[in-house]
Amino acid sequence: MPAIERTFIAVKPDGVQRGLVGNIIARFEARGFRLVALKLVRPGKEHLEQHYAELKDKPFFPGLIEYMNSGPIVAMVWEGLDVVKTGRAMLGATNPLASAPGTIRGDYAIAVGRNVAHGSDSVENAEREIALWFKPEELVDWEQSQKAWIY
Ligand code: PPS
Repeated sequence: MPAIERTFIAVKPDGVQRGLVGNIIARFEARGFRLVALKLVRPGKEHLEQHYAELKDKPFFPGLIEYMNSGPIVAMVWEGLDVVKTGRAMLGATNPLASAPGTIRGDYAIAVGRNVAHGSDSVENAEREIALWFKPEELVDWEQSQKAWIY
């Protein structure tokens, strides 16, 4: 049963440096999701190691941390129906060579080690990642108002 969820989406350093931030945000807005939090950050190695803690024994771990630490990251929280799974579908397969055209990675990436964006892979991980990247007061609850500014 689809539910209203929140997910953590990050534009990775290559995505920021290639000017893809607006495009990625536009896709989530256009799909109908609601932006709950947004910031540009360089969180540092220790924070990134915490984010990817479950991968610490993988051979690619040091390279992944170095890549993620190589420039600013746009950290976001998006909310909506089934947003964790749908967000992952919008990102496309982790390895861009397997990502379908039309997805973010399928349109903009060719290498797994430079795959432009991250999205939480489960509701549990989304909660963990949101708590790691954002303070509770940085998450903004808001409703669309009366659209009084559209004439
Ligand atoms: S695994 O091995 O199945 O647990 O990994 P996977 O779920 O496919 O990916 C987990 C995150 O690791 C990144 N990744 C890599 N980074 C650099 N080099 C290589 N070879 C590599 N393989 C996987 C992958 O992009 C995932 O990070 P996020 O931020 O979720 O995209």
